Amino acid sequence: MLDVLGRRHGFSLSYTSYDWSCERYLREGAMMPADGLDQLRDKDAIVLGAVGYPGVPDHASLWGLLIPIRRSFRQYVNLRPIRVFEGIESPVRGTRPGEVDIVVVRENAEGEYSEIGGRLNQGTSEELAIQEAVFTRAGVTRIADYAFSLAARRRGRLTSATKSNGIIHTMPFWDGLIAERAAGHPDVTWDQEHIDALAAKFVLDPARFDVVVASNLFGDILSDLAAAVAGSIGIAPSANLNPERDFPSMFEPVHGSAPDIAGQGIANPLGAIWSAALMIDHLGHGAAAKDITDAIAAILAKSDTRTRDLGGTATTAEFTDKLIELL
Ligand code: IPM
Ligand code: MN
Repeated sequence: MLDVLGRRHGFSLSYTSYDWSCERYLREGAMMPADGLDQLRDKDAIVLGAVGYPGVPDHASLWGLLIPIRRSFRQYVNLRPIRVFEGIESPVRGTRPGEVDIVVVRENAEGEYSEIGGRLNQGTSEELAIQEAVFTRAGVTRIADYAFSLAARRRGRLTSATKSNGIIHTMPFWDGLIAERAAGHPDVTWDQEHIDALAAKFVLDPARFDVVVASNLFGDILSDLAAAVAGSIGIAPSANLNPERDFPSMFEPVHGSAPDIAGQGIANPLGAIWSAALMIDHLGHGAAAKDITDAIAAILAKSDTRTRDLGGTATTAEFTDKLIELL
């Protein structure tokens, strides 16, 4: 698909594939080779397929591949757009196509996902586990600035996900920094919502949101919720961005590896395809990216070709062929 677009828009891509997977972990004891990050460092972009398989603990597969890439390459923005497309029925009654168009801007390098902590007295009645959340002025400031700028280029509305009524150190800090950065973006109307109430509003009135900025964990949860509201987690794309472009950015579907249907050729390819659109947009080919999102909107609006998660019978390959034909 990207090659078709490259021919139309005058670019070409070369690909290097890496067999870094749970199978590799079981075979060789590591998700990627010791110099894995160095092999990626000089690439323009990384496409990552969903990772995880029964038999390999999730924390081993993820902290051995996905999370080191996000962190080492300072991909501190996790961009997660979602739309309710025409032709897809949202499970939320009364949600009309076109009305829901949200981008979750998830902080992607610090916050609740932290290596700081430990476990003591394992297996005893005194057993304990401590997990520290890390919020830095630099980290919150840069994600806030990114989100406000994005909101200014969209519909000018930003919501900050917080929980400063219950989490008494990090979240008031987050709120203060968001308010501080808001002062530099008078063109954006913003508010903040506690994550519990925000989750309810995502379901009750998803059309009211434009850009939502959230910490690592809150953004993780909200993006799955938003994808479900849009009809299927199979659609949702993401971009792990290093906005400074000092390192490659990484593009991946939001959905997991779905081991229950692995190898059957029936997964929805839209999450991966939309992620590829985010990638070529990041690489400077905005018109080609729009061709993809237009084709996605068209296939859903004008045909009844659907994968199973959306109530159809098409295989991954059939759906993809149809999309390429439309392109
Ligand atoms: C995601 C995923 C990952 C995350 C997991 C697999 C560690 O859920 O990208 O949303 O929580 O970041
Ligand atoms: Mn997730």
